[in-house]
Amino acid sequence: MSGNYKKLEQLYEGKAKKVFKTDRDNVYIVEYKDDATAGNGAKKGIIAGKGVINNRITNYLMRLLETDGIPTHFIEELSDTETAVRRLAIVPLEVIVRNIAAGSLAVRLGLAEGTKLRSTVLEYCYKDDALGDPLVNEYHIIAMGWASAAELKTISNYAFTINRLLSKHLESAGIELIDFKLEFGRTDDGEIILADEISPDTCRFWDVKTREKLDKDLFRRDLGGVEAAYREVMERLLGRGYRGDRAAAQ
Ligand code: TMP
Repeated sequence: MSGNYKKLEQLYEGKAKKVFKTDRDNVYIVEYKDDATAGNGAKKGIIAGKGVINNRITNYLMRLLETDGIPTHFIEELSDTETAVRRLAIVPLEVIVRNIAAGSLAVRLGLAEGTKLRSTVLEYCYKDDALGDPLVNEYHIIAMGWASAAELKTISNYAFTINRLLSKHLESAGIELIDFKLEFGRTDDGEIILADEISPDTCRFWDVKTREKLDKDLFRRDLGGVEAAYREVMERLLGRGYRGDRAAAQ
């Protein structure tokens, strides 16, 4: 049963996705865009084909995580760029997991990018563009009421489990998971489940052998080869001849 949701008014447009209401109360449609931004909107551009690729990679990884017991918002891929997801109240946190020092951590602590961390690092940023998504800790989160202590325990447990599952799976595709960002939401029943996307926009992926970048840092740092890298990640994970979920089902 495919495409059995009527797309209604747009609720929200973000930097990389739009969200629409549907005729089902508890179902939204997410539409992935080719637009790319970096530095909290300071740099803007288009990554051709990104919407399709991020939709497919996210859905593939969400399904993989579901199989391994992580509840996610994924319902069904509806088109190349559209997916039906569960309606959630988003917890206003970016949950960042780091295995190797890179990006803002490397800058903040003066580490060479690529330095192996002795153990996995978990960080939280408060989702607020006007404030530049500031780094916060558990005390801030509980004091501000963004999540309860019990919810944070669930979120951190999921984040570490997801890191283990994704790292292992990606490694078998020749990809090292350097770091990534997750978002979680609450269902009407108060259950915490994984939301948003898992893609080269929201993860750092390096080739295991060459340590070549296969993610949005190519765009952020004007290194070139962005489209090819996104496609490479998709093809390594979903196969070279992959034409989409619906094409495969027909
Ligand atoms: P950072 O090193 O810039 O803090 O990023 C850590 C990881 O989180 C990296 O994989 C990119 C991802 N990320 C997002 O998906 N969205 C964001 O707004 C930021 C700042 C990072």
